[in-house]
Order: sequence, then C-alpha cells, then structure tokens
Amino acid sequence: MPYEYANDDDIERSTNTWMVAGVALLFLMALVFPFYRWYEPAARADSRELQAASLAAEGESVWTYSCASCHGTSGEGAVGPALNSKQFLQSATDAQVGTLIAVGIPGTQMNAFSLDHGGPLTSEQIKSVVAYIRSWEPNAPDRPDWRDMVGG
Ligand code: HEC
Repeated sequence: MPYEYANDDDIERSTNTWMVAGVALLFLMALVFPFYRWYEPAARADSRELQAASLAAEGESVWTYSCASCHGTSGEGAVGPALNSKQFLQSATDAQVGTLIAVGIPGTQMNAFSLDHGGPLTSEQIKSVVAYIRSWEPNAPDRPDWRDMVGG
C-alpha cells in the first residue's frame, strides 16, 4: 500500500516548503559566489608568497654550502661579486640568475652548478637558491660597486 497524502492541502504545503528551500539555497549561492571570487585570488597570492618563502628557506642551505665561500655569508661578496645589492637584484631577473648559476661563467671561478653541466645542484635546488637571493631584495643595500671585488 503506497503512502498517500491525506488531501491536496498536504501536497501543496509540502511542495511550497521545498520550493522555498530551493529559492533560499539559490540566494545563498548567489551571495556566496562574489565573496568566493573576492577571496580566491587573495588566497592564491598568499599561497604563492608562502611557496616563495619555503623555497627561499631551502635555498639558504644551498647558499651556505655552495655559494657563501665566494660570495659571502650574506651575499656581501668576496672572491665573487656581491649579490646582496639593490643594483644587482633590480637588474637581474630570476630566469637570468638561474641560468647563470646553472651554466656558470666560462673562464672564471664561477662554475656551472647544474647537473646537466656537470655541477652538483638539481634544478629544484637552483630555483631555491635563486628564491633565497631574491629574498634579499626588499632590504638590499645600495651597492652600485657590487662587481668591484671580482677576483678578490
Ligand atoms: C669558487 C668561487 C665561487 C662559487 C663557489 C660561486 N661563485 Fe658565483 N661567481 C664567482 C665569480 C668569481 C663570479 C664573477 C665572474 C665574472 O664575471 O668574472 C661569479 C658570478 C656569479 C653571478 C653573476 C653576477 C653577474 O655578473 O651578473 C651569480 C648570479 C653568481 N655568481 C651566483 C652564485 C651562486 C648562486 C653560487 C652558489 C650556487 C655561486 N655563485 C658560487 C665565484 C663563485
């Protein structure tokens, strides 16, 4: 014996209830969507920043082991040029710096560091050390003479 509504009023009441619920849900979604559109890019920017920060943290140890002996503990320069310089950092893109580290500068003490060129670093490690160098930029000192100490 299938369930039967007692009368038409019951059917109408039930239908109305569901219709009201549906319209309410639609309104709720319409309200939430702009909020989501506003929130989403901010969340993405946050996660990009976080990613850059964790990459830079990784890069710090690469710097300490592979670069600091020639470029200084804080990039102040030694045998190699100072990289902690506003002038250097503002003139070089991440891609340029990464390529330079990977390939090296032939005929100088700046060796190739990528595995592809016989060096010790993976491309991920090179990316991380570039992020670390880049993290100096906001506080980098004014140093137009950043290349002056090359060769000691
Ligand atoms: C054995 C010493 C030595 C080590 C180790 C070394 N470098 Fe260098 N690096 C140099 C010298 C010297 C130069 C300058 C070469 C020239 O142009 O005469 C240089 C140049 C550079 C430049 C180019 C700057 C420009 O002219 O635009 C970058 C970037 C750089 N090094 C990054 C690194 C990073 C990152 C590491 C570690 C992964 C590293 N170097 C390790 C000696 C070194």
